[in-house]
Amino acid sequence: MTTTGAQEAFLQAFHAEHPAVTAEAFGGGRAPDGRSSYEILCHRVAGSRRVLDLGCGDGLLLEHLARNEGRQLAGVDLSPESLALARRRPALSGARLEEGRAQSLPFADDSFDACVSHMALMLMSDIDLVTAEIARVLSPGGVLACVLGGGAVGGEAYERFVALLRSTVAEVPASRRIPSLGDRRTRSRDGLDAILGPAGFTATDWETVPIDLSGSADEVWDVVSRVYDLGPLDRTAVERLREDFLAEVTEMASPDGRVPCAFKIHVVTARLR
Ligand SMILES: C[S@@+](CC[C@H](N)C(=O)[O-])C[C@H]1O[C@@H](n2cnc3c(N)ncnc32)[C@H](O)[C@@H]1O
Repeated sequence: MTTTGAQEAFLQAFHAEHPAVTAEAFGGGRAPDGRSSYEILCHRVAGSRRVLDLGCGDGLLLEHLARNEGRQLAGVDLSPESLALARRRPALSGARLEEGRAQSLPFADDSFDACVSHMALMLMSDIDLVTAEIARVLSPGGVLACVLGGGAVGGEAYERFVALLRSTVAEVPASRRIPSLGDRRTRSRDGLDAILGPAGFTATDWETVPIDLSGSADEVWDVVSRVYDLGPLDRTAVERLREDFLAEVTEMASPDGRVPCAFKIHVVTARLR
């Protein structure tokens, strides 16, 4: 199997078991202004009528977008199980929801005024093919708006989780590790500009926003433990990680039992020239 094939097979298998994982983990998170990361992205394309969601998962972002009447919505995803959940949303009865790859989009040229993508672009391999496809299906002047994961804020539970996860993963055999996903250039503004520029996009507008995921220790574990890396670990390793995590973060809790937890996102927009 090719590297891309292995990455996509992993993503498909993971989402077959966890088809709504991202919406469940991050849908309740809030930026300092009270909006979720899905709402922030939705507001970035407020004026666009024909909108494509790339890696739409279970359709939560599309459901937010459907609140604007008269919109033509489409979503594409590798995961048939996630798409099945999206199709069950009444607000998406008129949306075109396609199983497919972002590297080869099943849409005609000039089909959309905006393309959105929430926590998905940074997972995609052959990213130059993806950006060429986005440019092909957007109309000139069309907007690309993405939320990309930006890691821990620091000094809170997600940072502790990442450190513990790293040592757990270092101890397990390679067969229990996930394939490396996506293109590292999507992790920085300069890297993303280097990908998007040749595809015909303007330089990106790049904003980093903390998303608060605080809660009780168990609630915070429920959020952080949904990362891809836990998928291949055996039960014993996950249980040990959970115990270590709960022991560490209980010390961070405020008197009401609330554990601080936050995650950075990068909200990125660019326009097709
Ligand atoms: C972390 S999930 C995010 C799902 C959804 N956007 C959300 O935030 O709730 C990433 C999604 O991207 C999809 N995906 C990853 N690579 C893809 C590709 N090359 N083409 C289409 N979908 C892809 C996965 O199947 C998965 O549903």
